[in-house]
Amino acid sequence: MPVLEVDGVSMTFGQGEHAVRALKPATFSVDGGELAALLGPSGSGKSTLLLAISLILEPTTGRISLNGREVYDNGPTGVDVRAFRRQNIGFIFQQHNLIPFLTAQENVALVMQLNGAGRRQAARRATELLGFLEIAHRADALPANLSGGEQQRVAIGRALANEQRLVLADEPTAALDTERGGKVMALLRRIARERRSAVITVTHDRRMIEGFDTIYHLDDGSLTAVTRTEEGRREGRAIG
Ligand SMILES: Nc1ncnc2c1ncn2[C@@H]1O[C@H](COP(=O)(O)OP(=O)(O)OP(=O)(O)O)[C@@H](O)[C@H]1O
Ligand SMILES: [Mg+2]
Repeated sequence: MPVLEVDGVSMTFGQGEHAVRALKPATFSVDGGELAALLGPSGSGKSTLLLAISLILEPTTGRISLNGREVYDNGPTGVDVRAFRRQNIGFIFQQHNLIPFLTAQENVALVMQLNGAGRRQAARRATELLGFLEIAHRADALPANLSGGEQQRVAIGRALANEQRLVLADEPTAALDTERGGKVMALLRRIARERRSAVITVTHDRRMIEGFDTIYHLDDGSLTAVTRTEEGRREGRAIG
């Protein structure tokens, strides 16, 4: 069963002569365990698509189901969007959006606590995650005192903290060197394979394409092509 079903989702910013059609109606679905890449030039609508899927930006049209639950049908469906998002979607933003007055460790632990984890358990798991992302030595630093790549790794830890079924990553490796970027990709892949989460990753970086199951292309707001890679074929995925 797909984790994510997107049907005719579009986004227009502004109105009248100032309207920008950032995303034309897009229809696709992503299965649990699937690692999908989203490629496209700057301004093609990649971030808009991820923000619309997660209802951070309200789509102009379309329907979205997550984990079998309809969360948007040309308008709100009565789901508590914030709680649902916190439980079901891990979002790695293009801008890291770390909370400036919390340390690296506190930024990661906070989302676990918001989801019901106890303070000590959240702190322990946050430290573990930061260790995995090779940033544990900076756990007590504030975001302003971290490098761009370090902030990015903290943001990745935060997005993965609650083991959500859908992980959306907006250029998660942009600020990382090749080796660390490769490790982050390996982590996202493990999350897809082991947790059976659906993972969609925006990337500009062709080096990072290896290991994806499906590749989506956005061009001027249109989702133009879906390719199934060798890896995806081995996993036995059908493109619908
Ligand atoms: N809040 C907004 N109001 C008006 N137009 C917007 C808004 N956000 C994005 N756009 C426009 O929508 C289009 C798609 O933007 P989007 O940020 O989705 O592109 P992107 O593919 O993520 O680009 P990049 O690779 O540079 O991050 C662009 O033309 C952008 O200028
Ligand atoms: Mg973007």
